[in-house]
This record gives sequence, C-alpha cells and structure tokens, in this order.
Amino acid sequence: MKKAVISVQNMCKTYGEGEGAVTAIKEATFEIYAGETVALLGPSGSGKTTLITMIGCITQPTSGKLTLDGDLMYDEAWKIDDTRRIRREKIGFIFQAHNLIPFLNVMENVTIVPQMNGVKSDAANQTAKELLDYLGVGDKLTKMPSQLSGGQSQRVAIARSLANTPKIILADEPTAALDGERALSVMQLLRKLAHEQAVAIVVVTHDERMLPLFDRILRVEDGVVKEELGT
Ligand SMILES: Nc1ncnc2c1ncn2[C@@H]1O[C@H](COP(=O)(O)OP(=O)(O)OP(=O)(O)O)[C@@H](O)[C@H]1O
Ligand SMILES: [Mg+2]
Repeated sequence: MKKAVISVQNMCKTYGEGEGAVTAIKEATFEIYAGETVALLGPSGSGKTTLITMIGCITQPTSGKLTLDGDLMYDEAWKIDDTRRIRREKIGFIFQAHNLIPFLNVMENVTIVPQMNGVKSDAANQTAKELLDYLGVGDKLTKMPSQLSGGQSQRVAIARSLANTPKIILADEPTAALDGERALSVMQLLRKLAHEQAVAIVVVTHDERMLPLFDRILRVEDGVVKEELGT
C-alpha cells in the first residue's frame, strides 16, 4: 500500500484582511507518497511558495488540514507547538536564498543539524563529505560561506538539507543559480534519494528540462492546485 507522507486537505491561505486580502491558495487537497518526486509548476504569483512553505510549517494556513508522516500538524491551529523541531527532524528545506550560517565553515554547516539530532560526528562527517563530493564542492570543506560563489553556496545548502536524511524534502527553485548540467545532477540526486530512501520530494521549478525527472506534476494557477494528467 502506498504511504502518504504529506496529506493536504482543503488547505487555504489568505494574506491580509478586508479589501486588501489576497487569497493565495484556494482549497488545496492532495497527497504525496513516500518515494515520489513531485514538481510544483505555475506562473509567478500563482501561490507555489505559499503552498510549499505551508507544507514546511513556515507559513500558517488560514484553514484546512495538514498531516506530515502521520502526525497532524495543522487543523485550524498548529497542533504541534514545536514546529521547529518537526522541521529539523523530518523536513529538508532548500530555500531560494541559501541561508548558510556565516560563522561556520562548509563542513560545519552541513553537519550541524544531524549532530543536533544525535548523529555521531564521524557518521555525520562521512555523510556530509559524500554529499559535498557528489555536488562538486568536496574541496571546499574548510571554506567559509563568504568565500564561495552563489552556485557553490547553493550546492552546500542542498547538501545541508539532505544530510539529515529527512522523510520530506521541500525545495523552492533549488537549481536557480546552477548551470544546466549541475542542475540536472542535483535533480538526479533528489530522485535517487526518493527512490532509494523513500523520501517524499516536492520541488518548485520553472525548468521544463527537469520535468521528465518527476513522477508527478501539480500545477498551481491563481491559487488552485490541480494534478497534471497524462505526464
Ligand atoms: N507575505 C505576504 N503578504 C501578502 N501577500 C503575499 C505574501 N506572500 C505572498 N503574497 C501574495 O500571494 C500570492 C502568491 O504568492 P507566492 O509567493 O506564493 O507565489 P509564487 O507562485 O511562489 O510566485 P513566484 O513564482 O514569483 O515565486 C501573490 O499574489 C503574492 O503577492
Ligand atoms: Mg515563489
């Protein structure tokens, strides 16, 4: 039986109130299963970031229900007070801005969360080294974030969000600062993690070339989320 890792039911988000209110997501309902890679597509302003940050427990929905890995997260209010802990344990989030910790070197940036979650430092270091090697920044372990290019920082941030072997990976245009070949290898790595470690992966992308690498496509248009059929 397929296991829903992300379950979204009738989820809505309205920013603001009264005349100036903007409904960014209207009654979204869908499930995403372990081992699936799902693309979120749609025009600028259609609600993709709103949707992915609600799934990631960063943006609070206005109504509806969110269940992650069997835990009810939101049902008119946050059910789990400590959403930060859930994010750290279950979710790898790749943001548009890479948010590396400026006073930690590359290796420390990648190993800090696994270590906070109790992974022994040898094991954390080895996983970090493998990911950084794969992403082509294995020679930068002791560099500080300020010494990296935009694309290198983005790859370190990707390694960081994967180092924790999360159940869910959420990425908002993760390959925006990368050239075609590197973008493709990042997507191939995400796909491999989904299939080998049963991670559920949701990626906001504008890049048509990446679409064959996804199992499903969800299209967001003017706040309405629809399954794209026939892909
Ligand atoms: N914090 C906010 N306050 C008020 N309105 C917001 C806020 N964030 C987003 N919106 C509005 O909600 C709608 C959806 O925005 P969102 O950022 O989710 O779109 P997007 O699909 O991610 O766009 P892009 O492709 O440009 O990143 C837009 O009309 C936007 O102006
Ligand atoms: Mg966006």
